[in-house]
Amino acid sequence: MKIVLGADHGGFELKQDVKNLLVKLQHEVVDVGCLSTASVDYPDYAEKAVSHIIDDSCELGILICGTGIGMAITANRHFEIRAANCSSEFTAVMSREHNNANVLCLGARAIDKDLALTVVQAWLRSEFAGGRHQRRIAKFSR
Ligand code: RB5
Repeated sequence: MKIVLGADHGGFELKQDVKNLLVKLQHEVVDVGCLSTASVDYPDYAEKAVSHIIDDSCELGILICGTGIGMAITANRHFEIRAANCSSEFTAVMSREHNNANVLCLGARAIDKDLALTVVQAWLRSEFAGGRHQRRIAKFSR
């Protein structure tokens, strides 16, 4: 699967760990930055990343900042994007099965690395359940 990855300075180190995991799992990764822990603005990287989903060049995205909140707020300004800020395996699975989330947001300062990598794997393993959930998604989609 082709997955776009983006982070601000708060998420940079975890982004590198997530990138290594995705490569190990044989996914194709598009890394839109940032490229160091130097301070940057999360909306710039959220916008770069979601543009790859909106133009269909990537199927899913993972965005990481300190809390995951700024990335989720920014990404969800686009009607094509369903970004879920997840901090547990359960919420990650539900975000795919019920909400068909196409972007996973992680807070690098909110959860530790091992949990974050577990969340990523759970999210990627899960699939949209459709049915009544599709009806609900249609109510806020164009
Ligand atoms: C940056 O310090 C921090 O505000 C950012 O990473 C993120 O947590 C915002 O939501």
